[in-house]
Amino acid sequence: MKHLLKMLDLSKTEITEILDLADRLKYEKKHAIPHNLLKGKTLGMIFEKSSTRTRVSFEAGIYQLGGQGLFLSSQELQMGRGEPIQDTARVLSRYLDGIMIRTFKQDDVEKLAEFGEIPVINGLTDFSHPCQVLADLMTVREYKNKLEGLKLCYVGDGNNMANSLTVGCLKVGMSISLACPDGYHPPQSVLDFAKDYNNFELVSDPVNAAQDADVVYTDVWASMGMESEVAQRRAAFKGYQVSHDLLKHCKSDVIVLHCLPAKREEEITAAVMEEHANEIFDEAENRLHAQKAVMVKLMGDDS
Ligand code: CP
Ligand code: NVA
Repeated sequence: MKHLLKMLDLSKTEITEILDLADRLKYEKKHAIPHNLLKGKTLGMIFEKSSTRTRVSFEAGIYQLGGQGLFLSSQELQMGRGEPIQDTARVLSRYLDGIMIRTFKQDDVEKLAEFGEIPVINGLTDFSHPCQVLADLMTVREYKNKLEGLKLCYVGDGNNMANSLTVGCLKVGMSISLACPDGYHPPQSVLDFAKDYNNFELVSDPVNAAQDADVVYTDVWASMGMESEVAQRRAAFKGYQVSHDLLKHCKSDVIVLHCLPAKREEEITAAVMEEHANEIFDEAENRLHAQKAVMVKLMGDDS
């Protein structure tokens, strides 16, 4: 594993190894067991979109591993004035040990990896959010003690989260049912990947998708960059909400996850959000541990 660009690139074994290391790093942090797995290493963190969790968990994570993070707003880099990604990649490779990038186009992340000489980590694109899904799978495993055979129901937009969850869940042997309105399905490349699995379904009715689910997942109706579509999307997604009524169709010990930030009373009711706050904020915490594991795997001296 040289980079983390999208879930599609990871094998089941690689996912399991990351989750196992993430569990170990979480345990070691809790018990204040010292380690310096990335002593002296520098991670550049390029942000073209806003972030709370990704920015803070990567910066705190690299510091806890003995290295340091550099926050690089794309507005302040020459990239923001049009310097090509190919040149940025080659320059940053001379200074840094790894790059985390949050941007719009998946292709830009792939180009950064192609032209640079250091590991690249995708911190979210319009197409995928692999760091989030690794933290999600870690959280499911903590609550359910396994992944294989569990059913995850995703309600909402066929966006970066739906794409990465579909690939991640299927790779680890979970079932996934997506409930997305017409016109908001995941892209064809994700559907093509999923069609080889018999434990995938895409339906329009959230109640169908929720039947006997072990995990229910949702995300905002309008992702970053779609601000002009908010009103149109609010109409299209009406009814695509994680509510008590929906959870009645799931297993009695269902857990609810949300990548955050959440819009209460849109994709999730305030009541469900508060009742399932333990899971949702453990999930947010696990971004830290999962990403530390990714950085150690990619930037560590044995990698
Ligand atoms: N879930 C997530 O990626 O959060 P941020 O946008 O705050 O980084
Ligand atoms: N789908 C959301 C996820 C935020 C973490 C977005 O892209 O804005």
